[in-house]
Amino acid sequence: MEKSLVVKSGSLTESRRKFLEKAGSTLVLSTLGAAFFTSCSSTDDSDPTTPPGNSSSGITISGNTITINLSIQTGLNTSGSWLLIENARTLVANVNGAFVALTSVCTHSGCSDNWTFGSNRFTCNCHGSVFDPSGRVLNGPASAPLQQFTTQVSAGNLVVFK
Ligand code: FES
Repeated sequence: MEKSLVVKSGSLTESRRKFLEKAGSTLVLSTLGAAFFTSCSSTDDSDPTTPPGNSSSGITISGNTITINLSIQTGLNTSGSWLLIENARTLVANVNGAFVALTSVCTHSGCSDNWTFGSNRFTCNCHGSVFDPSGRVLNGPASAPLQQFTTQVSAGNLVVFK
């Protein structure tokens, strides 16, 4: 039986992004970002979340390859948008028009499902480690980088090679 796909996604609206930029503090950004992503509804600032299954989500996991149909996961076409594909333990984000993919298994103590993304930074909300889009540690307690995966756009799909 096929396991249902668990996906979280998000993106900041222009007004929310500008507000956060004006706040001007990394601490404020990560704090508000965490609260924002855990409290907003699907009609607020995030793109459609938690698609129920592979066929409707446009996301297919096959071995070490993840294929994301960008005409279904349209939110990912916007810079600042991101996905956490829990089943594949993978983070995907659009960073200034380029796609990045990283493991979602935090190098601090292994949390894999409690992430937010904002201002081009991934935050593991288990203990607050912050990583840049290439997986490098910006703030601990994690000390090792996240593994980065290769991405490729082909025929309207974003393909992630783990
Ligand atoms: S598990 Fe990610 S910061 Fe601790």
